[in-house]
Amino acid sequence: MDGFRKTSDPVEIAQLATKSKSPLAELYFTKAGGISLKWHHYLDIYHRYFTSYRNKPLRFLEIGIFDGGSFNVWRPYFGEQATIYGIDIEPTSAAKVEALGLNCHGRIGSQADPDFLRAVVAEMGGVDIVIDDGSHVAEHQLTSFRTLFPLLSDGGLYVCEDLHTSYWEGDWQGGYKRPGTFIEVTKDIIDSLHAWYAPIKNDLSDMQLHRSVPAIHIHDSMVVVEKAAVEPPVMIIR
Ligand SMILES: C[S@@+](CC[C@H](N)C(=O)[O-])C[C@H]1O[C@@H](n2cnc3c(N)ncnc32)[C@H](O)[C@@H]1O
Repeated sequence: MDGFRKTSDPVEIAQLATKSKSPLAELYFTKAGGISLKWHHYLDIYHRYFTSYRNKPLRFLEIGIFDGGSFNVWRPYFGEQATIYGIDIEPTSAAKVEALGLNCHGRIGSQADPDFLRAVVAEMGGVDIVIDDGSHVAEHQLTSFRTLFPLLSDGGLYVCEDLHTSYWEGDWQGGYKRPGTFIEVTKDIIDSLHAWYAPIKNDLSDMQLHRSVPAIHIHDSMVVVEKAAVEPPVMIIR
């Protein structure tokens, strides 16, 4: 196993900032107010997928507010037209995100509670991008995906992150190839995309994902699932 590190050393963080290329990373390293916990390599990956949603009437939901620091980035990055919500189980977090004064909203509840998730999305008027940066517990991640992915708009994105926890046992409910982890769910999604061609049966079959997932993108610890109507495939003979 190769190592990973966490750092709060300002000198090292300044060096990491020089290695990032995207405007999202630039905001992350310059905006003050509220602690944010993000792996360095996520920043440019976010920009790769999110850039086309900027300065539009986007509806964005992040599961996991913590200290609110990421919302200091989401607002200037997405612009004033975006509706931006966060949810967290920790009661103080909603006030932290509201206190930023950026017109970002926090709601308190569990990502493992489908009724709560549906109520938040209803309040938002729908949702276009979800980032799951919440408990990172396998059952919670799956409940959130099962609940929120069907609510995503056509053209939306579902991002589940910190998926190294899928390999960690204990509270994370993880373990290498352990059924039910989000990494294993991801493998099921890949199979599901091919249900046009073979009788794929897995725990996600009821979601009919081959009809609504044109692509899934897999990065270190982060999966991005695209949502859009998929037509039955046609092979051209010409
Ligand atoms: C990694 S932190 C979020 C970091 C934040 N997104 C950021 O970028 O700085 C995870 C957060 O998930 C919250 N959380 C834990 N269990 C949860 C649950 N069941 N539902 C919603 N949030 C939960 C924790 O209270 C914590 O604030």
